[in-house]
Amino acid sequence: MGFSRRGLLKGVLAAGSAGAAGFPQIWIKDASVAYAATGDIKVGVLFSLTGTTAIIEESLNKATIMAIEEINAAGGVNGRKITPIIEDPASDPATFAEKARKLVVGDKCVSVFGSYTSASRKAVLPVFERQNNLYWYPTLYEGRECSKNVIYTGAVPNQQQDEFIPYLIKNFGKKFFLIGSNYIYPKEENNYCKKLLEKYGGEVVNEEYVPLGHSEFSSVINKIRNSQPNVIFSTVVGDSVVALHRQYRAAGFDPEKMPMASLTTSENEIAAMGGDAAAGHFTSAPYFMVHKSPENERFVAAYKKRWGQDKVTHFVSEACYFQAYLFKQAVEKLGDKDLTPNAIRDATMGQEMMAPQGRVRIEPENLHTWLWPKIARAKSDGQFEILVEAKEWLKPVPYAAYPGQVCTAKGLQS
Ligand code: ACM
Repeated sequence: MGFSRRGLLKGVLAAGSAGAAGFPQIWIKDASVAYAATGDIKVGVLFSLTGTTAIIEESLNKATIMAIEEINAAGGVNGRKITPIIEDPASDPATFAEKARKLVVGDKCVSVFGSYTSASRKAVLPVFERQNNLYWYPTLYEGRECSKNVIYTGAVPNQQQDEFIPYLIKNFGKKFFLIGSNYIYPKEENNYCKKLLEKYGGEVVNEEYVPLGHSEFSSVINKIRNSQPNVIFSTVVGDSVVALHRQYRAAGFDPEKMPMASLTTSENEIAAMGGDAAAGHFTSAPYFMVHKSPENERFVAAYKKRWGQDKVTHFVSEACYFQAYLFKQAVEKLGDKDLTPNAIRDATMGQEMMAPQGRVRIEPENLHTWLWPKIARAKSDGQFEILVEAKEWLKPVPYAAYPGQVCTAKGLQS
């Protein structure tokens, strides 16, 4: 249910109420969706500023806030400013759900930008689906989700692994040691990895999972020593990425012969662990800070100016940045129409823009994003060298590990 802004304005003036910014405000009392029809556009910003994934989520908060500040400084959206309401869910899925509910039901945000781990996305999903609100999720993830209430702007497995796995087999060998944090994302991502290994003649010599926040890798390192793999395929997340790299290096393993190949290690974790611990290891992602494009030059310069010359950008913060602009484009397209999460979702379908990584597009069928896969190797200065770049943007296939299942605009087809 929704109302046009013009229609509401009349009602507001009749009610004689006035909002904090001098704009009249009204709430639709008996509707399941009740959004301020005039005045600022409220959005939630839900990234952990404390806890084990704050190491990365804090930078996601910064990239989101910077994009919103830029949009507001350039006049806002259709003359309205975006007001971010920031919450700290403290790296805890239950707190994510509680804060999401507060943002959607209490604050009446029309969209929420948030979260890094799939565990936290799964925790907030029922809130967005029940309240028919819209969650903008910037993180690479396992796919296998088909919700009308989430815009997915991070990579899915086909966009990170399709080129990466054959590249690793060709350059280092077929024996893979899979190491991940113990929750849904690494297990599902590894599920797709195993399918590709089978296709290209690779094999899994071990598969290990460690608790979130784990920092003692000696037993994993012993298992690596004993199984003699060619590649360590890592989907470890958060603080553990730092511990794993440092202990791997301290164990004397040589990345030239046996590299870690990660889908989750970005410039941000490297800044925390130090370039020496990361040097020689590989990451596959759609964006690296060294990518050359005018859009990226602007993004990196603005980020450093806003948050500090020592700060880095990376593949999840880039998605935070461009998804805020896609939100703006969708709201702009709606013009004077209802500003409900449903309307914003529909206006987001098919939106395109030049992001720092290249042109991106929201696939209308499944609300995931067309992206530009890249393979890069970390250097001791904390940056990556990009070795392989897709010549064309790559379609998101959120159910790539599940042939026969397809996410469509009508829902999951199987
Ligand atoms: C993740 O949990 N999607 C990194």
